[in-house]
Amino acid sequence: YSLRAYNTFGIEAEASQFVEISSIDQYISLRKSGEYAHLPHLFLGGGSNVLLTKAQEALVVKISIPGITLLNEDADFVWLKGGAGVVWDEFVQYSVNQGWSGLENLSLIPGTVGAAPMQNIGAYGAEIKDTFASLEALNLETLEVEVFDAKACDFGYRESFFKRAGKGQYLISSVTFKLSKQASVKTSYGAIQEVLATKGITQPSIREVADAVIEIRRSKLPDPKEIGNSGSFFKNPTVSASEAARLISAYPGIPNYPVDGSTDVKFPAGWFIEKAGWKGYRKGDAGVHAKQALVLVNYGEATGGEILALSEEIKKSIKDTFGVSLETEVNIL
Ligand code: EPU
Repeated sequence: YSLRAYNTFGIEAEASQFVEISSIDQYISLRKSGEYAHLPHLFLGGGSNVLLTKAQEALVVKISIPGITLLNEDADFVWLKGGAGVVWDEFVQYSVNQGWSGLENLSLIPGTVGAAPMQNIGAYGAEIKDTFASLEALNLETLEVEVFDAKACDFGYRESFFKRAGKGQYLISSVTFKLSKQASVKTSYGAIQEVLATKGITQPSIREVADAVIEIRRSKLPDPKEIGNSGSFFKNPTVSASEAARLISAYPGIPNYPVDGSTDVKFPAGWFIEKAGWKGYRKGDAGVHAKQALVLVNYGEATGGEILALSEEIKKSIKDTFGVSLETEVNIL
């Protein structure tokens, strides 16, 4: 089974077995049948945060659980549930079109609803933890569905329980968000302000914020349908206050952001990668996106190994040049 169509990097890799599931019961029956008990099970949502570096000796389970459901509402809020297989941006645009606020800044992020909590997806001043209500996940050992609130998910920057202690132990089947009926737009991100200002918009609606985000993303992030990629390949590094002082004095004007509840400081990985001369670099079909240095791209026939090797070269270069360690954000399989 070729996985090429199931990863946004467009990498060719084989899976020993493949199934697509449209309900959690379907997966429970499959498990109870014992049919694929001899193989590890690898779950894929949109395949937008993985780099396949080898053939997968596994049953690849493509999660296609559908459904957008209004669970509940009161005077101020709605609780909107999405099946794990719903395309993330369809869920976002549905909520924006209803006039429900909270997800508009997360427009156009590739992937599915079920994958969103794994790494607490975030962009342009919002993260899903801000509007997350709960999720349902199948415990892969007991085959019971468990409910997780935000605390249990232990969200952090591009982190959650499901990437740490809970890794490999759950299949997220649905996610519920608490969205506001009153527009409470987040426009602090510089690029959003610029787009709104160009259009003369001073009191943006949530649709206008969503459209601004879509415009910004289209202008610098490659569309996976055209050029294979998994968004940011690295996390933005967080360093101690003293390390930050060293960087700021060595590189005056280097952009940096405070980290909530800590004296640590976050720096944009893209800045280091660009300054080290990698932006637009290409070797074979593996490259660094010309408009966003944090995004590695597959121009066509790159292998996962080639992309991985490029990422290691970049990490070494950033360590040697700036003394900063980059951490990979994409899951290497
Ligand atoms: N920068 C450069 N050169 C570059 C890219 C960035 O100098 O080639 C510097 C600039 O100073 C720029 C700053 O980095 O002002 C921030 O850049 P940008 O707004 O593009 O955001 P980012 O920090 O590179 C993060 C997320 C993105 C998210 C954007 C917008 C991570 C790992 N990435 O990127 O998320 O869309 O902010 O909020 O935190 C993703 O996770 O896949 C992703 C695309």
